[in-house]
Amino acid sequence: MLSQATLKWSTTLVVASLLAACGGGGGESENPSTPLSGEQLFSQADSAGNQFSCSTCHATSENDQGLDEQGLHRPAHSLLNATRRNAFYNGSFSEVIDAVNNCRVDWMDASPYASDSAQWLSLEEYLVSLSDNGDAPEIAFNQAAAISDFSAADPNAGHDLFNQTCATCHGQNAAGSNLARTLVASGLSAQQVASKVRSSGPTSSRYFSNLSGGNMPFWSEQRLSDGELADIATYVESINTAQSYTCNASDHPKVGQVAMLSTLSHGVSGRVEILDNCTIEVSDFNYDGGGPDVLFYGAPSSNYNQGGFAIGDTINGPIYNNDTLQLSLDNAEQLDQLAGISVWCRDFSVSFGDGLFN
Ligand code: HEC
Ligand code: HEC
Repeated sequence: MLSQATLKWSTTLVVASLLAACGGGGGESENPSTPLSGEQLFSQADSAGNQFSCSTCHATSENDQGLDEQGLHRPAHSLLNATRRNAFYNGSFSEVIDAVNNCRVDWMDASPYASDSAQWLSLEEYLVSLSDNGDAPEIAFNQAAAISDFSAADPNAGHDLFNQTCATCHGQNAAGSNLARTLVASGLSAQQVASKVRSSGPTSSRYFSNLSGGNMPFWSEQRLSDGELADIATYVESINTAQSYTCNASDHPKVGQVAMLSTLSHGVSGRVEILDNCTIEVSDFNYDGGGPDVLFYGAPSSNYNQGGFAIGDTINGPIYNNDTLQLSLDNAEQLDQLAGISVWCRDFSVSFGDGLFN
């Protein structure tokens, strides 16, 4: 790949234009004055709120099994035809904006939209675009008591259900994502999991009573049956003790996860897959080789300045053109800390392109 001689040569040559090479780079950074479209407002987290977007909790269409296009079962109802309903939140509101604003306050830690704000008008237009003509029936969303009998539960069925329902935020196989922590080695009992799932939500909520705290939405009896919950809770209990992982094995829950590298500068793009407990494959990798001290960098979130760690040696110098490379982690524990990966310019703490594993 990169000989010591090439490294020296390129380091000397780029020294004069270090800043330009690392900081600049013609990224497609968003003009802050460009208003977001309704669809973007729906699918992106609010910069003043928490990590959730509307699309975290609401699909825009679902099949008969309640699964959206990604095969995920969202905690709240699909918003297809939502603007055609006459009442929302179990009849608490007659205007859709009031339901949306309640979601912003209760679930997104964001402020309510003013009814004449450009943002609400764009989002409303998007919601209307999801709707056919005519009235749509109101929907119920009822709190249920936590179950306590797990004797008939099936943790294997629970594993599959988890990957459809809880994985939206907690990641496939409970490995964690940028939206919620891993539930592997949580130490939680099935009873504790079931209680959380039936009661989670802000204690300040005016429309649901007896919530136990947190931004995770509780699952209503309409969205998750007691039998499904029992299966899921026993699955989470079955993985509640710490496991140790070694290289040359593929039993870590993150094996198989994929991250797509964004293009921020220097023409970086590619697909990154976790092949086994210590091996990561980068395919279709593009990078113009520019910038000093550039290498793959892993981190527990999309903030590579916090807890970031090097994966492999520096890669700047050669030009990569749809190349495939394999990277090795130092040990299998690093996989626990790996939620995102970046092509990282270490000298200036700048990402040339990065992505989160899913
Ligand atoms: C963390 C989860 C979460 C987020 C994020 C969220 N909601 Fe909700 N939403 C809920 C829950 C729970 C309900 C109540 C149950 C239901 O009606 O689906 C709800 C209800 C609604 C309803 C009323 C549905 C009905 O007919 O009763 C609308 C409309 C709605 N949300 C729109 C939005 C929009 C738009 C956003 C983004 C600005 C958003 N929600 C963000 C969880 C969420
Ligand atoms: C919309 C995102 C989202 C979904 C979907 C979701 N969770 Fe969570 N969950 C969170 C967040 C965020 C937290 C941490 C904050 C909190 O406690 O609410 C959390 C916390 C938890 C906790 C507490 C962990 C602890 O350390 O005590 C448990 C247990 C849990 N979730 C189980 C589940 C299960 C089981 C499902 C599926 C039925 C699920 N969650 C679905 C976002 C989500």
